[in-house]
Amino acid sequence: MKLLLVCLGNICRSPMAEGIFRQLTAQRGLAWEIDSAGTADYHVGEPPDRRAQRASAELGIAIGDLRARQVNEADFSHFDWILAMDGDNLHRLRALAGSDCKARLGLLRDPFLQHPTALEVADPYWGNLDDFLACAEQIRQAAEAFLQRIDKKES
Ligand code: 4NP
Repeated sequence: MKLLLVCLGNICRSPMAEGIFRQLTAQRGLAWEIDSAGTADYHVGEPPDRRAQRASAELGIAIGDLRARQVNEADFSHFDWILAMDGDNLHRLRALAGSDCKARLGLLRDPFLQHPTALEVADPYWGNLDDFLACAEQIRQAAEAFLQRIDKKES
């Protein structure tokens, strides 16, 4: 399974999600390919926000070596799943996806898009460390749920 996690800047939510998925899949012995990217290019090449690094460290996860990159065309044919953190970024992904898009697009908190309104991982960028801790916990729970669904459905 190849999974790409996507937010706006790739310095807060999606690098935390990448680290959490790496930890959870390693714990389950799953050899998944996991990456993250942003729909915007504001922070390309930067490490994750320090608050994202601290919130990840609270979960025993080091993400300081990650570097932000922007989503590109090849991502849509390479990855099996591309999960956005919020509805805005899902819309951006849909606009970028070409006709050879192989990936399934969804929301991290609603991968199969079953809810009438977007279930989002809110952007903690303008918040404080507590917001990042809550965000990391929300991502962790959604990641656990996704792994359970996929285990049953597709593996
Ligand atoms: P992220 O958070 O999308 O979770 O990485 C943000 C990071 C940077 C900005 C917005 C959101 N920004 O406006 O620079």
